[in-house]
Amino acid sequence: MTPRLDQQSFRQALGRFASGVTVVTTVINGEDHAITASAFSSVSLDPPLVLVCVDHKNRFHPAVLASGTWAVSVLAEPAQGAATRFATRGRPLEGQLDKVEHRRGALTGAALVGAALAWLECRTTQVHAAGDHTIVVGEVIWAQVTDDTDDPLLYYRSHYAALLHSAASEKSMLALRDSIVEDAGVPLPELRREAGETRVDE
Ligand SMILES: Cc1cc2nc3c(=O)[nH]c(=O)nc-3n(C[C@H](O)[C@H](O)[C@H](O)COP(=O)(O)O)c2cc1C
Repeated sequence: MTPRLDQQSFRQALGRFASGVTVVTTVINGEDHAITASAFSSVSLDPPLVLVCVDHKNRFHPAVLASGTWAVSVLAEPAQGAATRFATRGRPLEGQLDKVEHRRGALTGAALVGAALAWLECRTTQVHAAGDHTIVVGEVIWAQVTDDTDDPLLYYRSHYAALLHSAASEKSMLALRDSIVEDAGVPLPELRREAGETRVDE
């Protein structure tokens, strides 16, 4: 018989998988539900499908199954406070969005969190039982990205994390910015000094 895997090894191994962080929202009977979720993935391009794995214990679980529609906000780094809020078990549901900048999805009415890099609205197409979670698959019926250049919020080894730009990626960011600056006719050395920037290409 195969020995049963202990839960700590499982958690530790999965914790080594760095992920983005989303807030998934739905509305049922006029009540907003939301979870912070990292078990989010793209599934199919045609049709456009995504999935989120939802814990049976979450109040979001019966709500999303009953509503059949939901929204995903792909969080930017400044949204760590919102991620913490919507990951807090047992928080009051009433007014839970009051202190979080948001707007409503036009198709689902679900909340779209402000400090995000992208938003999706989804209609549930399939649900699959999977252990103590349900895999909720949804067709993406609307999607939008922001023009902001914020970095994504990441999650790694049970902690929120941020991108560390490598020297190579900094170089390409500088090159991109330089081309924009040159187009605008602003003298580059001046701009570098003003910004107090540490050059990485020296
Ligand atoms: C970084 C992070 C990722 C999480 N990912 C998920 C997830 O993918 N699915 C899930 O069901 N819960 C996930 N959770 C836990 C829920 O956010 C948490 O249980 C939430 O408070 C449930 O709220 P509710 O009871 O109002 O539905 C995650 C928590 C954190 C901190």
